[in-house]
Amino acid sequence: MKLSERVSKIIQSPTMKVAQQAIEMKARGEDIIDLTVGEPDFPTPQNIKEAAIKAINNNFTKYTVNTGAIQLREAIVKKLFKDHGLSYSANQIIVSTGAKQSVFNAIQSIVFDGDEVITSSPFYVSYPEMVKIAGGVNIILPTTEETGFKLTPQKLKDAITPKTKLFILCNPSNPTGTAYTQKELEEFSEIFEGGNFYLLTDEIYEKLVYDNFKFFSVAQLSEKIKSKTVIVNGHSKSYSMTGWRLGYAAAPEELVSAMNKYQSHSTSATSSISQAAGIEALLGQQITVEESRIEFEKRRNFFHAGLTSIEGISCYKPQGAFYLFPNVSKLFGKTAGETKINNSIDLAMFLLADAKVATVPGSAFGSEGYLRMSYSTSLQNLEEGIKRIKVSITKLK
Ligand SMILES: Cc1ncc(COP(=O)(O)O)c(C=O)c1O
Repeated sequence: MKLSERVSKIIQSPTMKVAQQAIEMKARGEDIIDLTVGEPDFPTPQNIKEAAIKAINNNFTKYTVNTGAIQLREAIVKKLFKDHGLSYSANQIIVSTGAKQSVFNAIQSIVFDGDEVITSSPFYVSYPEMVKIAGGVNIILPTTEETGFKLTPQKLKDAITPKTKLFILCNPSNPTGTAYTQKELEEFSEIFEGGNFYLLTDEIYEKLVYDNFKFFSVAQLSEKIKSKTVIVNGHSKSYSMTGWRLGYAAAPEELVSAMNKYQSHSTSATSSISQAAGIEALLGQQITVEESRIEFEKRRNFFHAGLTSIEGISCYKPQGAFYLFPNVSKLFGKTAGETKINNSIDLAMFLLADAKVATVPGSAFGSEGYLRMSYSTSLQNLEEGIKRIKVSITKLK
């Protein structure tokens, strides 16, 4: 029987082929250096785990309000004010099953058939697919390493049409790690203020920034801009809580109400236990966030220096997240024995087979010519990974 036409529009990520192969090799006991990891390799901090255990023992184990327990929404309100000076009320906050659900519900609430959604590439893999599910049209603006994978106001301005409904910014970015400074965002102010479209700013990597970078949210630009912006954030990356499935959005009340409709007829509220843990994460000690940030910065420096010492690879040094997005296009057209490297999938497959290093092809993020490599692994693994990549790449002639 035929499945829904809607699902036929969604592509299975092209990264699956490489990922599947890596899983099979690992299962066979092969020694794979996995640089595909999309989550911090640190455990969830102890105080957060204890808050969850306490919640279970206190029978905080039932449904909460659909938009999330009021204590958690108030903790989020406090966080947004403390970190960015942004004032929200609890009914402008919705807690979701991971940040991904907030992005999904926001897109479904804003975008309708034929509406245009602008984002830049390389992009977080799920944005364009979520836009397609909503019936929207993706307008993808390519960026390259020469401009630090940043969009210019002019490029954005040229892409805006009367059909533009939403602009999505991932800041800091997955997959490039690029982070926009306050000054760079201010240059977009006029366009954002004048535009008749919403803004979605995905700030999930906000706490993982380096070189004394000061994170600045789009919603801080002006009250007018804040009134058409949905901030998406969550606990996954800052607090090493990917498996707890906890994210949230802060947005104008009518948008939160719309997102609430989607949520109420799909998952309802996320786990009450995760929510209790999430309150502790936001209001408790923040030392572990800083400790992970420092460790990631050390790894980024080490990994970037190692990667760029390899002939044929160049790499922008980003100020956020835990990924590098090296340009490997100089290796295209080369061969090693029977293997010809035509694109990033070929190269990722070659590195997996020859170096036993797993990476993600740039084409998965809409940018051919690159690979995404995560440094959410030990310095020892990174050192071994660099060594192996170097040996394999030398074989390409
Ligand atoms: C940019 C970006 N947004 C959202 C998410 C989803 O986060 P969560 O695990 O909280 O759903 C991820 C996870 O990789 C991400 O990289």
